[in-house]
Amino acid sequence: MCGIVGYTGSREAYPVILKGLKRLEYRGYDSSGVALINNGLKVYKKKGKVAELEESVIGKDLHAHVGIGHTRWATHGEPSDRNAHPHVSNSGQLAMIHNGIIENYVPIKNDLLKKGYTFSSDTDTEVLLNFIEDIKKNNNCTLEEALRIALKRIVGAYCILLVAADDPETIIAARKGSPLVIGIGKGEHFLASDASPIIEYTKEVVYVNDYEIAIVRPDELILKNLGNEKQTPFITKLDMELAAIEKGGYDHFMIKEIHEQPDTIHDCLRGRLLAEHGQIVMSGIEDHLEALTQAQRIVIVACGTSWHAGLIAEYMIEELCRIPVEVEYASEFRYRNPIIHKGDVIIAISQSGETADTLVALEKAKEQGAFIFGVVNAVCSSIARISHAGAYTHAGPEIGVASTKAFTGQLAVLAMMALKIGYSKGTLSHERYLQLINELNAIPEKVKEILQDTSHIQAIATKYKDAHDFLFLGRGYNFPVALEGALKLKEISYIHAEGYPAAEMKHGPIALVDENLPVLFVATKDSYYEKIVSNVQEIKARKGKVIAVATSGDTVIPSMANDTIFVPDTDEVIAPLLSVIPLQLLSYYVGIAKGIDVDKPRNLAKSVTVE
Ligand code: AGP
Ligand code: GLU
Repeated sequence: MCGIVGYTGSREAYPVILKGLKRLEYRGYDSSGVALINNGLKVYKKKGKVAELEESVIGKDLHAHVGIGHTRWATHGEPSDRNAHPHVSNSGQLAMIHNGIIENYVPIKNDLLKKGYTFSSDTDTEVLLNFIEDIKKNNNCTLEEALRIALKRIVGAYCILLVAADDPETIIAARKGSPLVIGIGKGEHFLASDASPIIEYTKEVVYVNDYEIAIVRPDELILKNLGNEKQTPFITKLDMELAAIEKGGYDHFMIKEIHEQPDTIHDCLRGRLLAEHGQIVMSGIEDHLEALTQAQRIVIVACGTSWHAGLIAEYMIEELCRIPVEVEYASEFRYRNPIIHKGDVIIAISQSGETADTLVALEKAKEQGAFIFGVVNAVCSSIARISHAGAYTHAGPEIGVASTKAFTGQLAVLAMMALKIGYSKGTLSHERYLQLINELNAIPEKVKEILQDTSHIQAIATKYKDAHDFLFLGRGYNFPVALEGALKLKEISYIHAEGYPAAEMKHGPIALVDENLPVLFVATKDSYYEKIVSNVQEIKARKGKVIAVATSGDTVIPSMANDTIFVPDTDEVIAPLLSVIPLQLLSYYVGIAKGIDVDKPRNLAKSVTVE
């Protein structure tokens, strides 16, 4: 995912756009650029950070009241000045920025080349732009009509902003599969790929839907579908404060978001987990209770950290609901021609709600009659909209590329789902239901307890920061937590780390163990405890360095480990909400000890909307 910003109104456009691009930097990008309209088109673009673009335009003519800006995450054509957006059409009259992928751009490009078009970049975007220009020329139609015709012929995902040199107030926008938000001002409009560049100017926004085109002027917003039928803009009020986006006094978004978790888990439970009444209220479940309780099979589809949440949900749902669960990497599921029966339940888990692999997997499953339940953080995101029902994780904007608070929000939602479905099905006794409701209700306070003093974890991180490899081991509910801990360390510290089921070590990986290998056990008190004690002994016998996440009060594991991090006791079903916190902190402290930009690790993007 990369960033899109547009402005039309009475302000100077360039400062609004530049600030907006900086608000979107967290998405991960490789280049940026702006196009301004005033006495013709002015386009400035550059590989690298937005600050480098800013530097490169000092002294240039930046006066304009309409403009578009882009941060690019390359899919076609290496990161470079010439491949950066905005792109300019052959006539020099049109400029466009684009998020997404045009899958059938090659035949279109070949056709345009035969017609004498030339290209200054390797991107699919420039092909689409000249395709639009060619249609406009050959059909002698308006730019809007040419865009509509082009969008019906291309295959792929897009959010585009299009401007013309001879129209110093109009921005034409369109979206399919890549988000677009329009902020409603007084005599001005703001466009962006999410609300963060908009919120300081207005809280009234329109989320553009797939296959819609927006014609935006200072005093006008016209929304149409590809059939050229006007659509009524649905204005919603943003509940995200700008402060929620700033770092709030922390050094990095990641540590801020780790520390937000008592509140974000609480926000996730709010209004749904009514412990005092012994109830769980979730309209997305209640409205489809039969589909969920009668499901013969549940398939969970996700990527990365969200996939780890899915693995934990598998243990929860199979234990509490006795429904078979399969957890699928979305990127594998979508290409495997999966067997989907009508009535199958697909649970999609996604923080951004825009992950291309997950979105396309859902589209395929939906076509085959599956019921789609979305567990999403980004309100009104594409995955949220394609789902038949869902539950938001209410973790707020997660700016750090590494997912932390969104993950625990997912676990909280999934735990409530499993409890509600299990109790409704009768596979969960009332007593156990109440017990787990109360344990879940106590989680925010217990997370706060872990976060009270993290200096011990920082010391452990400093001790092991130069390791070349790490193993993370766990069993049962803590096995996916071990996988998540390994992913966190990899993406934040660039140290190779592997998560593994603790009992599987003897089938090969134990050959890796020696006195240089730190092995982290997620070893909280649960039904696997005696077994994992033996696994720790196996590692110690081979001189491995053991770091343990253990339950407060445990004396056995700490007596064997080189270093121990304690977490409060809770039921094993929801223990991952606690046992993951030390792993998030460990990866953060190792990353900063190594001087890494933990909010924007190399090669990573916050939301992967390309396939
Ligand atoms: C999480 O730390 C990673 N950055 C990444 O694996 C992420 O979880 C994955 O890309 C899925 O994103 P989503 O939850 O927005 O779909
Ligand atoms: N596919 C376009 C390119 O590679 C846009 C990529 C993006 O979403 O930034 O330039």
